[in-house]
Order: sequence, then C-alpha cells, then structure tokens
Amino acid sequence: MDSPFDPSGTVIVSGIQPSGALHIGNYFGAIRQHIALQDKHPSFYFIVNYHAMTTVQDADMLREHTLSAAITYLALGFDPERSNLFAQSDIPLLNELTWVFCCLTPVSHLEKGVAYKDKVAQGLTPNCGLFNYPVLQAADILIYGGTLVPVGADQRQHIEMTRNIAQRFNNRYGPLFPIPEAYIVDHVATVPGIDGRKMSKSYGNAIGMFEEKKELKRRVRRIVTDSTPLEAPKDPDKDNVFALLRLFATPDKEAELRQAYLAGGYGYGHAKQELIRLMLDYFGPARERRRELLKDLDYVHDVLRQGAKNARTVADACMERVRELTGLVTMLR
Ligand code: TRP
Repeated sequence: MDSPFDPSGTVIVSGIQPSGALHIGNYFGAIRQHIALQDKHPSFYFIVNYHAMTTVQDADMLREHTLSAAITYLALGFDPERSNLFAQSDIPLLNELTWVFCCLTPVSHLEKGVAYKDKVAQGLTPNCGLFNYPVLQAADILIYGGTLVPVGADQRQHIEMTRNIAQRFNNRYGPLFPIPEAYIVDHVATVPGIDGRKMSKSYGNAIGMFEEKKELKRRVRRIVTDSTPLEAPKDPDKDNVFALLRLFATPDKEAELRQAYLAGGYGYGHAKQELIRLMLDYFGPARERRRELLKDLDYVHDVLRQGAKNARTVADACMERVRELTGLVTMLR
C-alpha cells in the first residue's frame, strides 16, 4: 500500500512553544535553525497550543501567545511559500492518533519522563495532559511522517519516546511510520542571561528580541560583569557581555573586540554599548517586518490557514491508514 507521506526523503517537523515574548536565547537555540533548514526540505512547523494548555489555562493568553509566536517567526524570515506554519490545534486529528499511541505506551515509560518529573518536583500537581505530553508530541511528529526533528538538547528524551512509539506501532500493525531522528545543534553555546545563568524566561534573566530600545538598554546595562578596572586587560572568555557580543558580531568584529578586551583600556561599559548597537542592527529588519505584520493580521491568519490546510491533507491520509491498520471501523465515508 502507498505511503501517505512525502516520498522525497527528509521531512522536517518541529513544535514551537507559544510562550509569549520570545528572547534571544530562543532565537539562537532554536528559531535560527528552523529558519535555516526551511530551504532544504519539506517542513511542518506548528505552534504547540495543545501542549501549552497543560499549563496555560487562560484563553486570551493562549490565543495571543499563539499568534505572537507566528508573527515572530514570520518577522524573522520564515517563508510560508516554502514551509508550513500553523497552529497545532488546527489538526484535531492529532488527538485521535494520540489515543492510538496512548494504548501502545506503558505508563511506566511516561513515569520516567524527565520533563514530567521536573515539573512534579517543582511542586506542580500534574494533570493527565502533562503526563501524556510525550505521546501527543509523538503524534505531532509521526502524523506528517517526520524524519528529522530540530530541537534543543532538552528534547532528546521526547524524541527517543517518539521513536519507541513508532517502532511499537510498526511492529504491532505493520510498517507505516518512518523512525525520526533528533537534530540537535550542539555547537550553539548556551546563551547567558543578564545574571550569567542560561537565558530563560522562568529565571527572569532574558533579553527579548523585540524589546523597545529603552528597555533593551536597561536590560543590557544590568548584565553582570566582574570588577576588573577599565584600564586592565580582560578575559573575553569569562565575560557574559562578550558571550552575547559574539552571537551578533561578524567574525572580523569578534576578533577586533577580543583584541580590545585583551589589550585593556576597553571597559564593560564600552562592550555593552557595542552590544546594544549590534543587537539593534541584527534584529532591525525583523523589528520593521514585525511592525508591518502587526498591522496586517489578516495576512498572518492566511499563512496559518494555508499551512493548516497542507498539514491536514497529510494528517488525513495518515489517519486513514492508521484506522485501516488498527481495525478502527468507519462507516461514514
Ligand atoms: N516539547 C517541545 C518543546 O518543549 C515542543 C514540541 C511539541 C515539539 N511537539 C513537538 C518539538 C514536536 C518537536 C516536535 O520544545
């Protein structure tokens, strides 16, 4: 029987968390890779509002964050002509596949989920959605026949669970799903937040990508540095400002700044000024596009609608096969 999936080989699939204002850690950790990959293969990128619902239970907030994630991606150069961008909830068939997968997943596997255990350890009372989170993620990936999943290193276990679920399905019912691989960009250095810890929304140490100029300056001035005096040489590899500067600088500029640090007479204040300049330059065009998109929400909705239509065609064909293979009788077609 024909495969319902793209026969050309690699299919890229990834989920985007609708977590409000995205920060430069999100950009260098994930978004930049997503945008770079879109040229190469067919791809499905969805904003994971079903997943977010395990913790965000305010309708306005969920709606707003979903749209704002779409706007951010489009502003940064995501090209809807080449890849599909849509809201996860526009593919309600995912819930059907999640159910099928739930019935193939031992509870003991989910109990070993690191993300789940972390949340519980933090004192959260888990709901069933949170417990089943990895099963929904497996459905997300497999329903489009995804083969390559660009994610952060923290998602390694979820991709492992997805592979396991795909194998169980294929063994029990027949070969349908390709076994996907995680694509983890290891060379991305951890982006430090203004306190030097990993940049994270939950630590309150993030610098937003689209921060107003005034707020951006305020955040950058608060980046923690050591107390080496202005005249003294400084070690660029031990400094948070430099760790951020190098993300935005061209290789030549980075070399020049490294020299300035090592030579002395170049203070952290200078470095922070430079960082603000580079950041404004780097995200300048995206800021401009974002302002335009905010005035043209119809366009954003159209993009999401078209992405969802394309995704649904594949998801429909996949579920047809799943129903056939599993013996779920349907009389209404
Ligand atoms: N769990 C992922 C994260 O927290 C988001 C996600 C949901 C995802 N579904 C996915 C990532 C499918 C890759 C593929 O980042």
